[in-house]
Amino acid sequence: DWTMAEFRQAKIAEIRAQVGSGKVICGLSGGVDSAVAAVLIHEAIGEQLTCVFVDHGLMRSGEAEQVVGLFRNHYNIPLVHVNAETLFLAGLAGVTDPEAKRKFIGKTFIDVFEEEARKIGGADFLAQGTLYPDVIESVSFTGGPSVTIKSHHNVGGLPERMNMKLVEPLRELFKDEVRALGRELGLPEQFVGRHPFPGPGLAIRIPGEVTRERCDILRKADAIYLEEIRNAGLYDAIWQAFAVLTPVRTVGVMGDGRTYDSVLALRAVTSIDGMTAEAFEFPGGFLPRVATRIVNEVRGVNRVAYDYTSKPPGTIEWE
Ligand code: XMP
Repeated sequence: DWTMAEFRQAKIAEIRAQVGSGKVICGLSGGVDSAVAAVLIHEAIGEQLTCVFVDHGLMRSGEAEQVVGLFRNHYNIPLVHVNAETLFLAGLAGVTDPEAKRKFIGKTFIDVFEEEARKIGGADFLAQGTLYPDVIESVSFTGGPSVTIKSHHNVGGLPERMNMKLVEPLRELFKDEVRALGRELGLPEQFVGRHPFPGPGLAIRIPGEVTRERCDILRKADAIYLEEIRNAGLYDAIWQAFAVLTPVRTVGVMGDGRTYDSVLALRAVTSIDGMTAEAFEFPGGFLPRVATRIVNEVRGVNRVAYDYTSKPPGTIEWE
């Protein structure tokens, strides 16, 4: 039986053999996958690894701080933290097409990453937290024709352009296995158990134009939703839960006044690997409570809806 302890040792040997005395650079996304890949590679080659966290300003509230804190304080892994929010938001101005958003974010991420790699004197290898489902989904959609459903910004592009070889120690793993490996490596449970978060971040949860103001509205609503999920003890029963700030505005009434504000959609799904998913059924009373809190506490939202679509035919993210 192949245990995670054995997998860890085998991968460490493999990474050492592949990398030799070369330098490795790893892009952190804020998610579990890149964090586990980085910690594993650090264990294998130590100071030959440098991590770069390109903060595009499209994170949830507190997320960037958590990642930086984990790497700098807990693991003492060399980390370059680039705050590129202004650059990303400026480039997203006026962009509404989902693939255009994804492509811009992916390309800009590479530009910033490349620039930082140059600053630290370059590297021979690029490490990525690519998982097995990423490998499959970036090629074709399960059971369907060979078309690109979404351009994942963390797969492809970078290595060719930067003339670096890839180190992808998680390529054979599914999400639950990556979590098991993360625990094996001693990553804090709170980090390992985190829901997946897409590379393009909140930009693909704001259909229509992405602005700083809309990111802030979404961050507030999303934080309330997740706080309620945690308080209800439901976080670990859900694969992924998040809010979507729609471009639809509707009429409402608040006190004596009329409002004309955005509709926020809530999504929560169960899944094994993200390739198929079912809408999560919340216990009675939960969603009305969240809806009331969000409409009362988040200015700019006056209506809340719940998304019951499974995957397929829906996807998990809206864009
Ligand atoms: P979809 O929306 O395609 O998402 O059903 C499946 C899973 O992938 C995540 N996702 C991404 N992850 N880069 C990522 O690292 C991306 O560009 C990306 N797009 C979607 C999504 O959150 C879900 O867990």
